[in-house]
Amino acid sequence: MAQQYLITAALPYANGYIHLGHIAGAYLPADLYARYLRLSGEQVLFVCGSDEHGVAITIRAEQEGKTPQEIVDHYHAANKESFDQFGISFDVYGRTSSPLHHRLAQEWFLDFYHRGLLEERQQLQFYDEEAGMFLPDRYVEGTCPNCGYERARGDQCEQCGAYYDQLALKNPRSLLSGKPPAVRPTTHWYFRLSQFQRALEDYIASHQRDWKENVLQQARAWLKQGLEDRAITRDLRWGVPVPLPNAEGKVLYVWFEALLGYISATHQWARDSGDPERWQQWWLHSSDRQTYYAAFIGKDNIVFHTLMFPAMLMARGGYILPSNVPAHEFLNLEGQKFSKSRNWSIDLRDALTDFPHPHHRDALRYTLAMNFPETRDADFSWSDFQARTNNELAAIVGNYANRVLAFIARHFEGKVPILSEQDREFPARWHAAVANHAGGGIALDAEHFSAEERAVIAALANGAEAIAAAYRSFRFRDATSETMNLARAANKFFNDAAPWKSLTEHPAQCARTLYTCVQVLRSIAIALAPVAPNLSRSIQQLCGIAQPTTGESSGASAGPNLWATIPQPLVEQGTPLGQPQRLIEPISDECIVMQRAKLGAQAPEAPPESAPERERISIEDFARVELRTGRIVSAERVPKSNKLIKLIVNLGSQERQIVAGIGKHYSPDELIGLDVVIVANLAPARLMGVESNGMLLAASNGEQLVIVSPRGEIPPGSVVR
Ligand code: 2FM
Ligand code: ZN
Repeated sequence: MAQQYLITAALPYANGYIHLGHIAGAYLPADLYARYLRLSGEQVLFVCGSDEHGVAITIRAEQEGKTPQEIVDHYHAANKESFDQFGISFDVYGRTSSPLHHRLAQEWFLDFYHRGLLEERQQLQFYDEEAGMFLPDRYVEGTCPNCGYERARGDQCEQCGAYYDQLALKNPRSLLSGKPPAVRPTTHWYFRLSQFQRALEDYIASHQRDWKENVLQQARAWLKQGLEDRAITRDLRWGVPVPLPNAEGKVLYVWFEALLGYISATHQWARDSGDPERWQQWWLHSSDRQTYYAAFIGKDNIVFHTLMFPAMLMARGGYILPSNVPAHEFLNLEGQKFSKSRNWSIDLRDALTDFPHPHHRDALRYTLAMNFPETRDADFSWSDFQARTNNELAAIVGNYANRVLAFIARHFEGKVPILSEQDREFPARWHAAVANHAGGGIALDAEHFSAEERAVIAALANGAEAIAAAYRSFRFRDATSETMNLARAANKFFNDAAPWKSLTEHPAQCARTLYTCVQVLRSIAIALAPVAPNLSRSIQQLCGIAQPTTGESSGASAGPNLWATIPQPLVEQGTPLGQPQRLIEPISDECIVMQRAKLGAQAPEAPPESAPERERISIEDFARVELRTGRIVSAERVPKSNKLIKLIVNLGSQERQIVAGIGKHYSPDELIGLDVVIVANLAPARLMGVESNGMLLAASNGEQLVIVSPRGEIPPGSVVR
């Protein structure tokens, strides 16, 4: 039976820019999976798009003084472009404000309605008379009925986590008018989710061995509580209108219709590809086709994808269900949660601007993949990005490519070495050995293969299988680290085979070594393609491959199984190779300092009650920081920087050069003679190429910045504690 893979990634809300936390949560793992499968010759459809309805959008529109449509148009285009530049290889990127999506969602609603799967209920809800509208939960604040927190939201208290009906809030006030809201009756339609309890229990139980524990646990917890019918309409103006005569001013609940966005995007794709009925191939059961459907999401979406969506698909009938929902936990940033409001975040578009080189973008993909929050929350830090770029991608992959190409440029006229007469059979023997190996160890005879060759070919054959197994079971960190291990094995081969020794004494052996090195370089390029497609493309080109393949979108048609060729020698003797070059520029300390400095900057001062609680430290921890007073003796701007000022600070017994990012707030002249407090035992760093030996203390709320200066007379060099 034909097998195919449907991949969806949660539709991001089009009310803000995608950040790296989102990328690590759903989009990059989905892309690695899609690219790996395409490279393996599988038929893949990778679907995503913008989630353009819901209160989050209307709130953003109000904040920016724009219409919701303007907001979603902007963020849809911006996010689509960022995904594209980051190499997320969607086959289609739809949008839920499209007429096609509206029609499809309404059609599903009506189907459920006419088949008795919806129940009409009257309920009471807060109504803002001044604004003339019912208040969604996020538009009401009041005192939590559970803990007394005074700024609790309409349906949930951030302080104690309690969920309640909005009418349970004490002292409610509308966030639109600031006034206490009225209470009015309204009508909504409830999806009879409770009817699917049993079927969903069976569905979840059937996946107890192949789904991730974190996903199963959440799904089981909801089932244990007992599923309740859910309102799938809201009193709102922005959204998909409820297609009933008595439903003026009501729209479909955003989660109900957003989930259908996967299907409407597939309709869009089918239309665009010239066969509007082709969507059925991906979503409907068929006796001659097996579809494996992987729904990539972050952990906050688990209930919707493991219970709500499957129930909707079951209710509609004839549709496939997710085969797996490989949800990720959350990614933290430098030890703290991502937070846009505190500017503790890295927007993908900013990262793309700061790292325009495609290989650096790959380095970001690689660093994220090595830190995916697969089983628990994980952390991204700029120093890890620097270390992985410089010490792994550049020092292992880049270095290997460079040494092989440089050696060949110098001693073999830049072409794949021609094997000697006695090695004529070498490629065929290599092919045969690889072809005969079907899982579970490769046999290479010692008569025809040296120990070094046996080691590196076995590393390729076993590695390709191990990486494939890791991808297929959603272990992306393992897949990525095993990929790097191939490059390590390649360097070891070069070192152990020592072609610089055989060059003069055994030229034939030297040619065979470099012939092998090129084959291994191509193999590494293919294995790297899912995680580092740009680097892979460059290396394939250097290996003389005219049309490199990196698992990019291919119109959902199956291609050749390139993955299976990883252990094979496929670059012909005599093929002209590219010039040796530094493939990955190292990331400088200065770049990392700059990136870190951006975090938390420019954020409006957070109100004390929402300021994050930082980890407490001991007095011993604090004592490690050496704070001293100093007096600025000279100050000048760092050339080409409007932010940095180079200071010479007198510390009593010595003078220090310190570079401080205060140039937007102070001119050099006003700094001279000022008494300051500095961190005296900070490791030196270079900022825009200028050495900085210490750090000046300054207070900042993002907009203002004021240097901390001792009040009263105190000699430079005094200890501050
Ligand atoms: O959490 C979110 O960002 C939602 N917009 C995800 C929706 S996934 C699906 F319903 F489309
Ligand atoms: Zn509470």
